[in-house]
Amino acid sequence: MRTHFYTRAGDLRAVDGLSYYVNRGESVGLVGESACGKSVSALSVMRLIPNPPGMIAGGEILFNGQDILRVSEEEMQHIRGNKIAMVFQEPTTSLNPVLTVRRQLTESLELHRGMDSASSAHEAIKLLQLVGIPDPGRRLKDYPYQFSGGMQQRIMIAMALSCNPALLIADEPTTSVDVTVQAQLLEIIDDLRSRFGTAVIIITHNLGVVARYVDRVNVMYAGRLAESGVTDVIFDHPMHPYTLGLLQSVPRLDLPRDRELGVIEGLPPNLACVPSGCAFHPRCKFVIDRCRKERPPFEEAEENHFSACFRSQEIDEIKRPEPESE
Ligand SMILES: Nc1ncnc2c1ncn2[C@@H]1O[C@H](COP(=O)(O)OP(=O)(O)OP(=O)(O)O)[C@@H](O)[C@H]1O
Ligand SMILES: [Mg+2]
Repeated sequence: MRTHFYTRAGDLRAVDGLSYYVNRGESVGLVGESACGKSVSALSVMRLIPNPPGMIAGGEILFNGQDILRVSEEEMQHIRGNKIAMVFQEPTTSLNPVLTVRRQLTESLELHRGMDSASSAHEAIKLLQLVGIPDPGRRLKDYPYQFSGGMQQRIMIAMALSCNPALLIADEPTTSVDVTVQAQLLEIIDDLRSRFGTAVIIITHNLGVVARYVDRVNVMYAGRLAESGVTDVIFDHPMHPYTLGLLQSVPRLDLPRDRELGVIEGLPPNLACVPSGCAFHPRCKFVIDRCRKERPPFEEAEENHFSACFRSQEIDEIKRPEPESE
């Protein structure tokens, strides 16, 4: 998939040839630093890219084998309401401040599932219960501002679930919740996945966050995938220097406490002028001349483990400068 924004600063390739899949009942992570195109790729799946300045410039989004880039807007509305749901990064911008939670939850139940007012209210209470809102019956009449950020995120999840989606995309809340709440939210989503067989895409910039909750990890850099594989394998031996950098920047309880956290030097590129060759090369510790000129293909480096790096095979051996204390 490709999604571009045509801005005064130039053509910005927010998503530039991203390709991944998620199976029924499976959860996958989409991980990468800020502004690498995670949210834009999710909004593309929902076909919610503002045009102008944005446009889905090419590719396919296959949902149950059907390319949803080709269905009518009317059909897409049906898909959005009933099949694919998204929990947005900013609950405050997606919840309507002047409507009660009841109104916001029951609307789609009445619209998409044809319920009457009494049964939709009953269902709304069940949904709030499911996402762990205490005393849901009483809280239905409250407005979003009467809930904390984490609670609002739960309400967003309840809204997303009201249509019983086959696919749930959860964009990580960045500002509104702390790590404990974040873990609780992921726990709720994971529980729903196992109960209802929902396919889940979790978007985050923190690899540590998804470790427990996703079957596979897709690591994204500058609008495309750097690495992809089964979660345990990615954590055990990453093959792309970018993934390695992300992992080294995550605190670990199983390593000596005086271990220094790694940083990835520099900043992600401006997507309007991505570096030549491998987009990561200016920040890469393993850079060789070839990386500046040629873009490494995204290849299966070992079974079910893909990486876009000329040195994938070597990274595993040279990556571990063991702590000197050992
Ligand atoms: N409406 C828009 N108009 C112009 N550029 C946009 C628009 N929306 C997003 N972009 C640009 O697309 C790029 C990717 O943004 P995106 O929101 O997908 O990042 P992200 O990976 O979700 O980051 P974060 O982790 O901070 O949420 C950014 O450079 C952003 O500025
Ligand atoms: Mg985002």
